[in-house]
Amino acid sequence: MRHLLTGLELTPDDLHAILDRAAALKLAPLSSRVLEGRSVALIFQKPSTRTRVSFEAGIAELGGHPMVLRPGDMQLGRGESLRDTARVLGRHVAAVGVRTHADAELEGLAAEDQLPVFNMLTQGHHPCQVLADLLTLREAFGSLEGLKLAYVGDGNNMANSLVGMGAIAGLEVVVSTPPEFALDGVASITDPREAVAGANAIYTDVWVSMGDEDTADARRAALRPYRIDDELLDAAGGRGDVIALHCLPAHPGEEITESVLYGHRQHIWDQAENRRHAQKAMLEWLLAG
Ligand code: CP
Ligand code: NVA
Repeated sequence: MRHLLTGLELTPDDLHAILDRAAALKLAPLSSRVLEGRSVALIFQKPSTRTRVSFEAGIAELGGHPMVLRPGDMQLGRGESLRDTARVLGRHVAAVGVRTHADAELEGLAAEDQLPVFNMLTQGHHPCQVLADLLTLREAFGSLEGLKLAYVGDGNNMANSLVGMGAIAGLEVVVSTPPEFALDGVASITDPREAVAGANAIYTDVWVSMGDEDTADARRAALRPYRIDDELLDAAGGRGDVIALHCLPAHPGEEITESVLYGHRQHIWDQAENRRHAQKAMLEWLLAG
């Protein structure tokens, strides 16, 4: 049985095959009926716009029924374990996606092997977003080969997944964070201008992730020099075709300027669209296990 917990389960061949399928599904959205007559449960323990909408629409396009579940509406909200919930879900649905805080919760669920489990965002990882990001990079540059991606901002789940899955995809990924908000075990370049030199894409994310609200003020203060603006894009130099990426939701004036968010050098809204295509291809891979 396959699971997608971190994205690091994927071999380079798996990853490239998923991206090929995603591109094909983008051209012919109704060409796969892999979920015909089946349901997929989507458990959200944190808010979501893109992930929920793209999975609901994508599962419908695959012929399936998306079942969005909120803990407040379920016995989960009254203390039933995720583990028992999964055992029951496994009797009814083809797969379950979970957005939650601790990665350990998701790992525990997958360890039950009751049904395929996929990560819709945890504290440590956001693999579905990175699948969409890689598809977006492929579209923008024709191929992933030889590309350099600079992540600038908070050392969070997005940074972690971009580093891990970027390596599988063969990208050069550099990370620029303030020392106090660096990723564990990953070398960080403190100066964002140094980090973006020669980059094809500059990626950022919110400064205050869901669950980090307690340290919001300290993050905003430390991260101020890490905003993506036109000057930072210019600092990439090179061939002059650098693009800005952001998983969204954006906070214009914090991690990104309005000028970049709505400007001609971003592929941010394509990233948001590509969630659906990439996740449909991921579901095909998951169910082929
Ligand atoms: N990028 C992303 O996962 O957005 P949502 O939180 O809106 O799902
Ligand atoms: N790092 C952000 C990503 C949101 C899609 C968070 O976890 O809140």
